[in-house]
Amino acid sequence: MCGIVGYVGSESVLPILLDGLSRLEYRGYDSAGVAFIENGQVDVQKKKGRILNLREKLADSGLLARQDIHIGIGHTRWATHGAPSDENSHPHLSASGRIAVVHNGIIENYLELKRFLQERGFEFASETDTEVIAHLLEYHYEEDAGQDILEAVRRTLSDLEGSYALGVLCADDPEQFIAARQDSPLVLGLGEGCNFIASDIPAILSHTRKIIIMEDREVARLTKEAIELFDAFGQPVKREPLLVTWDSEAAEKGGYEHFMMKEMHEEPRAVRDTVLPRIRDNRIRFENFQMDRQALENLDRIRIVACGTAAHAGIVGKYVIEALCRIPVEVDVASEFRYRNPIITERTLTIIISQSGETLDTLAAMREAKRLGSQILAIVNVVGSSIAREADHVIYTAAGPEIAVASTKAYNTQLAALYLLAFQMAHTLGRIDDAELKDYLEKMTNLPSLLETTLAHQDDLQRFAAAHFNAHSIFFIGRGLDYALSMEASLKLKEISYIHSEAYAGGELKHGTIALIEEGTLVVCPMTQPQLVEKMISNIREVKARGAVILGILTPDCMRAAEVCDQVIELPQIDPLLAPVVAVTPTQLFAYYMTVNKGFDVDKPRNLAKSVTVE
Ligand code: M6R
Repeated sequence: MCGIVGYVGSESVLPILLDGLSRLEYRGYDSAGVAFIENGQVDVQKKKGRILNLREKLADSGLLARQDIHIGIGHTRWATHGAPSDENSHPHLSASGRIAVVHNGIIENYLELKRFLQERGFEFASETDTEVIAHLLEYHYEEDAGQDILEAVRRTLSDLEGSYALGVLCADDPEQFIAARQDSPLVLGLGEGCNFIASDIPAILSHTRKIIIMEDREVARLTKEAIELFDAFGQPVKREPLLVTWDSEAAEKGGYEHFMMKEMHEEPRAVRDTVLPRIRDNRIRFENFQMDRQALENLDRIRIVACGTAAHAGIVGKYVIEALCRIPVEVDVASEFRYRNPIITERTLTIIISQSGETLDTLAAMREAKRLGSQILAIVNVVGSSIAREADHVIYTAAGPEIAVASTKAYNTQLAALYLLAFQMAHTLGRIDDAELKDYLEKMTNLPSLLETTLAHQDDLQRFAAAHFNAHSIFFIGRGLDYALSMEASLKLKEISYIHSEAYAGGELKHGTIALIEEGTLVVCPMTQPQLVEKMISNIREVKARGAVILGILTPDCMRAAEVCDQVIELPQIDPLLAPVVAVTPTQLFAYYMTVNKGFDVDKPRNLAKSVTVE
């Protein structure tokens, strides 16, 4: 995810900004840049690639050694709008070059705002949503804010929809800069004769431990002597700073013990950022993909190709697309797809799913599908990755960088993207009407808050895992979408806890596998599909009769199955079709706590790599 650092004081600013940005490297990024004021001008230096590239650029130009530059903002970018490049890197400058901005988050209405600005003669140098903010700041600064940068920021914020953490520098005010936030973290750091902003505490922890956490819609003005904080109405806010006592390694994980836990807690934000920017006027609009009715009717089939967790997301996608669109969907693991001479025609749409966009098997399968004449739609998290570059169309998930090897938030966002796609195709085909689409979109919008509720069950799962972490083998069983979900739940458990685990369709166990159930075998049963609950109750009775212990993960509509469960985790009320997005989270927490209890490295399980770039 992007990182922000800002400083105003008496020391040389560039080493402070570079040091701060380096401390955010663990978050992942693809370019870095700084803006600072010298001789009454804003200077921007930015570079695609590592921070080292930027450092070399600043050193070669002599800027890094300068002792007379005391105010600046810096940024590491994780591409969302537009590929990683020098032009798309932050900071972005306004048309006159007098205002610079760094931004984390996503501006959902940026196309609308861009049109507004273009009609007034503003020209754009990048593909980013952030550049809109730079130009809007200048527009207000000149038009209606009386050349007061704080007022221009306030007016600009009222135009923006979406999430942001902002740092704003104006050449006319060389002693101050402005910060603001909405749904994207930003903290203020209080130093001795200097002050800071940062998107994450580790960036400034070597300079100060006195931190004020900004809240949504707050704006701050920083000078070297003081920080003034204002609420959304421009009223001054008094907030005592916190004294941070963590070390910087703990701070990188945002106070969580492991990246996996931090990333599970990012699921509401990740799903929101994947869904909301695509919904406008009760319609779904992807930046880079649209098929009309004739093209959809012409499809002979959809193939979904992926590996691991991404393939499991694809299986949910199959259930949903087939149910809504009545187009046949087949799911292949990429390593098998390439070598089995798959049936692909020019009427096939191949959907490739990958968090990293670099998984070699998936990339090779995509090339094979393309060679055979299929159109390729990629659902990818990493902008500018190999799969994203080679696909015909891309839908980006907005999970942000995933550092733990075990994929968590990426899965939720892959599902969110697949649901949007299924709804859009079903609507275009006339299989759902405007009212049904509107209803689904409202439910999609509500997913982040359901994820928050679900994450609150953490303690129940922690207690349950503490009692069962010595299990030798754990089964996951489910029907319909709960079976698809069980596959992912089982993978998560085995890859980090090293406990043998398998996922089975509830009705399939009795065809052989039930022989493995014995006294005390743990069987986890997600139940979110009310129409299948009676069948699941029968399947549970079959394993209970052989001594199984049952953990049920139930929606309120399925609560009648509680009587056959030994422990129940209750999910919030959710449309059964959308349930996997939320029901996966308790299974991830379960895998996490089982692993912590066993004392294994949650974030770096043995034998595994985050990105598998070998065959
Ligand atoms: O980056 P990708 O989504 O292409 O990666 C695919 C799999 O390697 C990945 O999902 C893997 O299964 C995860 N470790 C699962 O947690």
